[in-house]
Amino acid sequence: MIARLTTTIAAVAVAAGAWSFAVSGPAQAAGPAIEYPQHDWSFSGPFGTFDRGALQRGFQVYKNICSGCHALSYVAYRNLEDLGYNEDEIKAIAAQALVVDGPNDDGEMFERSGIPADRFVSPFPNEKAARAANGGAYPPDLSLIVKARPDGANYLRALLVGYVDPPADFNLMPGMNYNAYFSGHQIAMAQPLWGDDVTFEDGTAATIEQQAEDLTTFLAWAAEPEMEERKRAGVMTILFLLVFTGLLYATKRKIWADVH
Ligand code: HEC
Repeated sequence: MIARLTTTIAAVAVAAGAWSFAVSGPAQAAGPAIEYPQHDWSFSGPFGTFDRGALQRGFQVYKNICSGCHALSYVAYRNLEDLGYNEDEIKAIAAQALVVDGPNDDGEMFERSGIPADRFVSPFPNEKAARAANGGAYPPDLSLIVKARPDGANYLRALLVGYVDPPADFNLMPGMNYNAYFSGHQIAMAQPLWGDDVTFEDGTAATIEQQAEDLTTFLAWAAEPEMEERKRAGVMTILFLLVFTGLLYATKRKIWADVH
């Protein structure tokens, strides 16, 4: 019995080892990994929530700067309710967008102003147009970028503050920009944040770091708007299981109380 148990444990250990090797293998093959500074996020940890002020400021940065090149097409204007905006504010935000709708009865597409049910309007009609406007490089949709990159939040923040002078011997290709945290260090996106790019409505100083942090919080929300709900459900489940365990234990003691 014990021998068989030991064999099973050994087999599981070997399988786990092989699995972790298989998982970590390709990442290592991609060259020396770049370490991103680890930031203390309001939304990390089992009790983390999105800071509402940061969400609104991050949205302001996205709207004023990033939305010129990057779509956010999985998010609808009405989702901004999560950020603490009320219905009228959301209607006003949506109304600033020009939405291509149709076809109408004549078979023509037409433009109208946005309504809360619309998804965020993309800056370019298609990928080719986006590339044509950006020297051949494609600015990806940012809806899921925080999930699409390993250590996404720390990566995104690092990328935005990572525009520094290249080392003297670095061979920067024409039209490219040096970034300490981008894979290969050459990125087609010019530095988007310089500090004071926006004036925050709540009076927070708009340093590069502040804007990068808030924008990352906003995009982390965009990638997983139901995160707070998920974490709450997790905590409630653990609490339930703890109480349930206590009840079962009490029941067991009662049932076996007379057996000596
Ligand atoms: C003038 C256009 C432009 C603006 C404005 C802009 N970007 Fe970009 N961005 C690009 C282009 C082009 C790329 C593709 C770069 C490449 O592939 O080398 C890119 C790539 C990215 C990437 C992908 C990096 C990766 O890992 O592949 C992220 C994330 C990003 N941008 C975030 C932002 C954020 C956040 C803002 C606003 C603060 C912003 N961008 C503003 C043009 C822009």
